[in-house]
Amino acid sequence: MPHSPNQPTPEHSSNPSHSYLSGLFDAYQGEVYGIVMYERISSSRPCAEERAKWKVLVDLEKTTKAVLTPIMKQYGLSTKSLPTSITDGWQDAGQYLHLSWKSLMKRFSDELNTDIITYQNLLVQCPSGDQKAITYLVDHEYATKAFCDMELANTPSGVSLQPVYDLIASADQVFLTGKSE
Ligand SMILES: [Fe+2]
Repeated sequence: MPHSPNQPTPEHSSNPSHSYLSGLFDAYQGEVYGIVMYERISSSRPCAEERAKWKVLVDLEKTTKAVLTPIMKQYGLSTKSLPTSITDGWQDAGQYLHLSWKSLMKRFSDELNTDIITYQNLLVQCPSGDQKAITYLVDHEYATKAFCDMELANTPSGVSLQPVYDLIASADQVFLTGKSE
């Protein structure tokens, strides 16, 4: 159906809603927070294998932040790390440091459900040009949750980390195609 140039369909709107931009900003700062939190958790794990596994999740957090950076800049949003994101990430990591590996996996598997819903809602609101980046944002929580669930099921680490490795490897495709519109 044709539409008036004055009434663009939402999916083609170049003026995303305030709520979308606010959610995008929060998601970006969420990665800043996540990088600090995950790095502290990784470095505090008692065994080298656990440190190495959790470090891959840090890499995914960093990659997700990098995926969001071009669209943040496109809307003129600041890509500076807020001091509160850094201090909150550091402080909140404290509540996970005493946990056994299995308890850590269970806590994250459960708690990531909230982030998945938040980012799915952001995906519904996003302009079509941002879809690949926001899908990546959703998928990074799914991959982290999948890792935790497989660790809980005693899956070999090469297998449990595979969704995370795959997603990190796929980021180049988002960078190559994400700014095409
Ligand atoms: Fe994250």
